Amino acid sequence: MGLVTMKYEMMKAIKGNYAVPAFNFFTYETLSGIAEAAAQKKSPVVAMATMSGFKMGLFSPKGIAKIAEGISEDYGINMALHMDHCPDVEFLKQLVDYGFTSVMIDSSKKEFAENVDDTCRVVEYARKYGVTVESELGHVGGKEDDVEAENLFTEPEEAARFVKATDVDALAVAVGTVHGFYKALPKLDFPRISQINELIPNCPLVLHGGTGVPYDDFREAIKRGVRKINVGTELKVNGTFNTFVNAYSDPAQLAAKDPRTISKVVIDAVAAKCCEIIDVMGSVGKADC
Ligand code: 13P
Repeated sequence: MGLVTMKYEMMKAIKGNYAVPAFNFFTYETLSGIAEAAAQKKSPVVAMATMSGFKMGLFSPKGIAKIAEGISEDYGINMALHMDHCPDVEFLKQLVDYGFTSVMIDSSKKEFAENVDDTCRVVEYARKYGVTVESELGHVGGKEDDVEAENLFTEPEEAARFVKATDVDALAVAVGTVHGFYKALPKLDFPRISQINELIPNCPLVLHGGTGVPYDDFREAIKRGVRKINVGTELKVNGTFNTFVNAYSDPAQLAAKDPRTISKVVIDAVAAKCCEIIDVMGSVGKADC
């Protein structure tokens, strides 16, 4: 129990035909709620840091690595500590040194050759320490960690060339989801997921933009080879922010003047949301405990 690599969990997910749930954390409460849910459901889990969290000065890279290690041990869970969407190769190397067990190099807005090159540099470094590397090909658009971007679907043949050239451990694919809340229901390109999976069956596929995707679509994507599903905005807005706002509007909480009772309400709300999503992933009971 404790921090594990994302690859370890995804390889088990390939054999077991389920997806590893991956959640962004925004505050200490979100991280605790994620751990609480994983413990309740005996599910593996990926806790994902965001670049904006570091830029806003909310977490220190070394500090969060130690906190996540301690939390995963205290809760008795298997957790991968993952850096989500990072364009900075040197920063990722530092995170590997500090104890992150998984990192995502995101050069998906660059040309294919540059994306390959950046990914290879991260793979070369991370592999020495057994750390998992995820990369993205095509581009999942929408509001990604506070930046708006266009959607560009992943081409299956290109995905196969990319994985061959980089030997990356997991591939984020653009198949119809976008980051952030949807204005209309997303339309996932399921045949595309199957085609990509058939060409690279040993490279786990990652679905980004999980917020607002109907649960039946998650189930279908998992059937077709998706092995990690990312959810962020739902936890940020509904799980964390709205719960804080509601708790601070509660006269009893205001009278108590104790922020810890409010933090506890947020942890429980995040845990409940994560439990609901874990149930759909098929990962309940799949932790090694
Ligand atoms: P959402 O914020 O749309 O859930 O996407 C999260 C994500 O894909 C993080 O990489």
